[in-house]
Amino acid sequence: MSVTTSIDGSVAAQPAPLILTAGGSLRGTVRVPGDKSISHRALLFGAIAEGETVIEGLLPAEDPLSTAACLRAMGVEVSAIEAGRPVTVRGVGLDGLAEPDDVLDCGNSGTTMRLMLGLLAGRAGRHFVLTGDASLRRRPMRRVAGPLALMGAEIHGRDHGNLAPLAIEGQPLRGAEIRTPVASAQVKSALLLAALSAEGPTTVIEPAHSRDHSERMLRAFGADLSVHGPAGTEVRVRPGAVLRGQRVVVPGDISSAAFWLVAGAITPGADLTIENVGLNPSRTGILEVLLGMGAAIEVLRAREVAGEPVGDLRVRHSPLRAFAIGGDLIPRLVDEIPILAVAACCAEGVSRVNDAAELRVKETDRLAVMARQLGAMGARLEEHPDGLTITGPSPLAGTALASETDHRVAMSLAVASLVAASDSRLEGAEAAAVSYPGFWEDLARLRC
Ligand code: S3P
Repeated sequence: MSVTTSIDGSVAAQPAPLILTAGGSLRGTVRVPGDKSISHRALLFGAIAEGETVIEGLLPAEDPLSTAACLRAMGVEVSAIEAGRPVTVRGVGLDGLAEPDDVLDCGNSGTTMRLMLGLLAGRAGRHFVLTGDASLRRRPMRRVAGPLALMGAEIHGRDHGNLAPLAIEGQPLRGAEIRTPVASAQVKSALLLAALSAEGPTTVIEPAHSRDHSERMLRAFGADLSVHGPAGTEVRVRPGAVLRGQRVVVPGDISSAAFWLVAGAITPGADLTIENVGLNPSRTGILEVLLGMGAAIEVLRAREVAGEPVGDLRVRHSPLRAFAIGGDLIPRLVDEIPILAVAACCAEGVSRVNDAAELRVKETDRLAVMARQLGAMGARLEEHPDGLTITGPSPLAGTALASETDHRVAMSLAVASLVAASDSRLEGAEAAAVSYPGFWEDLARLRC
């Protein structure tokens, strides 16, 4: 720990930078924690169902803990969230959420805040205030609040309703046909949640298909929901169905597995098996890109668990070729672009990421942050308004690095540092706990 004194005289302890040792290889088996998107949804849908929901494999990380804390503040009983123990949610029914007596803190979690907006907008006569950490209070919420307003929602916030803290005056909502401005599962899911208790049916039409965990899980809970359009980009909800508590089994998060997939592919001599990874086709863009680069990845024991495809992934070191990605593929790997940038540094040729301006409004501006951090390591990389161009292979140097508070940046830089010429120091390594609390322990265990 180091101690810093801020200008107002207060003293805060900060973890010392983590030393990332370069070199060596990776071997063994790892089980990544539960899928973050599915974990949030299991808690939220369980809360508004009738009866009990039992969740196995829930991600015990900061983001789902934020969702659980918000639900508890509205009177929902959620059992303790601990690794390896099932979590029980006692549903209060669609309209059973109580008005909280304090602001709801969504922490660092965009999914918590956006899905809560949809869930709470229709709780007529109740008042809610949502806030979050400094990163979340900079992230755009108009993309949810705007379409919800078409259904009659009343949401106020800074920057004309765009930025948290956001106040929601619960209103009776009406169904609508809504074309969302971005392919975002958070926006889509917020609207689907609002639609459950609106007057009349709602159709949400996305510009491209985003992850469909909400559609799958809401149907499993009993919602009257149907999917249309050639790529499943149109989702219709008819209100009135009663949601019933379920047993939910959360698979491992492919977005967390992605760090091991790339680490295994770029580290000489590596051979890793990642068990129990969710392989929902709306999330497997990363696998397609890595396979296209020539990565030696095998899918083992492909199976279906509680409505989601699952498999084990084995990855071994192999030479990689550059990639070009853009268009409808981006929503299918949106969280994996930081780690793909690391893969690109180790691949032969010029890799291109296009149509990824969305990365600028994630936990950090991930295009700028990855360009800055990999640039500090000596990567040959250019930042564009909507993407990156990376020329590889780029020898990487060990240096002073910073996560800039972003969990996926922290883990991506850890992987890059494995193949650097010398050791690095990472500030803000603790950010990994937002989605992968055991990441540093798993890394230490797999090294050889
Ligand atoms: C998520 C959707 C994605 C993703 C985020 C989780 C979700 O965001 O980046 O980590 O659970 O719905 P967008 O929907 O805004 O692209």
